[in-house]
Amino acid sequence: MPAALNIDLTPFNTLALPGRAARYERITSAGQLADIGQTEMRRFILGGGSNLVLSGDFDGLVLHMTIPGKRLVQVDGEAWYIEAGAGENWHDFVQWTLAQGWPGLENLSLIPGTVGAAPIQNIGAYGLEVCEYFHSLQAWDFERGELISFDRAACRFGYRDSLFKQQGWHLSGRLAIVSVVFRLPKQWVANIRYADVAQELAAREIATPTAPDVAAAIIAIRQRKLPDPAVMPNAGSFFHNPLVDAPTAARLADRHPGLPRYPQPDGRVKLAAGWLIEQAGWKGKSLGPVGMYEKQALVLVNRGGATGADVRRTMTAVQAAVREKFAVELSPEPIFL
Ligand code: FAD
Ligand code: EPU
Repeated sequence: MPAALNIDLTPFNTLALPGRAARYERITSAGQLADIGQTEMRRFILGGGSNLVLSGDFDGLVLHMTIPGKRLVQVDGEAWYIEAGAGENWHDFVQWTLAQGWPGLENLSLIPGTVGAAPIQNIGAYGLEVCEYFHSLQAWDFERGELISFDRAACRFGYRDSLFKQQGWHLSGRLAIVSVVFRLPKQWVANIRYADVAQELAAREIATPTAPDVAAAIIAIRQRKLPDPAVMPNAGSFFHNPLVDAPTAARLADRHPGLPRYPQPDGRVKLAAGWLIEQAGWKGKSLGPVGMYEKQALVLVNRGGATGADVRRTMTAVQAAVREKFAVELSPEPIFL
């Protein structure tokens, strides 16, 4: 099917920002990507649009990844290997693996978006990053005109980071991920390191949780804290939690008692951007139609009718407030198109 012209992208981004794509094509199979081949136009690979800030109209080709499919591809003594198409809804996929009796991904329940986007920023929540259970992926390389496989080491995963971002491919549209394989070990222990999860399970009087118990607890926590994009448009956390060196964290903690600090294996310390934003006075505050959510200051919300320019204005004001109070730089998590 030829690309559609001048398509409204508002329904395709969870911040509900306005913008039109000069060309738009829904991708349901890897073969379709080969047919598109090299075009002169700029390309953007779109999943669920849940980590996206649309600046306005996009004068290029949007490839909307909706490739379906999920199946067990291999099983050995130690693990199940599950493959899913890039267009599968992430949360539905996780719940499906649990229903099949393959635990592991439960801590990532209710993260919006698609399977194909999960490796791009190495999605993470409640003590787990997807890289832990990632096995490999297949992507169409528009430059080489072929399907390429990437194993876990090749993806160079980090906190909200991967090879795809390091190379700028998430913006240039060079690679379209078509499927991802996960390796779910048969030996499973509940991951309840995150304090909120342990507390929620204790409140439910569950001492030895199953994977579906952990999923249910995390779904409840997320529904309490995070706004539903269908009701209040947002893109989840709007900034990364900043990583600073240990002396900087110690200095900040001296000056600001109560500063949450999470020491990392590499010696650096992760700070809680939501705490910094709240202390800087931005929790529940707005500038025009864009503000920081009243129940979770790290989530930027469109209170109605906002544009990409409105988002940038609030983002800049929040960054300036945090810089002034803490001398810490906040970098945005979503992708700006
Ligand atoms: P999109 O927003 O469509 O795209 C994101 C990036 O991935 C773009 O650069 C795009 O080009 C690229 N991309 C998408 N699909 C493909 C593909 N098939 N091939 C190549 N490139 C592709 N994230 C977390 O990590 N943890 C959370 O807990 C979390 N909570 C959230 C809560 C809410 C309420 C919301 C709205 C968002 C949250 N997010 C979270 C962010 C978001 O859900 C994830 O980043 C998700 O993986 C984005 O998926 P998507 O399909 O919507 O990607
Ligand atoms: N905090 C505040 N005020 C706020 C928000 C948070 O003081 O308004 C404090 C909390 O009290 C807590 C700390 O900040 O001490 C951390 O808060 P929370 O547990 O809510 O997590 P977060 O750091 O704000 C991160 C991820 C989320 C992920 C959750 C759960 C990033 C950028 N964000 O949020 O991911 O779901 O942890 O693991 O790492 C996303 O990436 O879009 C996202 C939602």
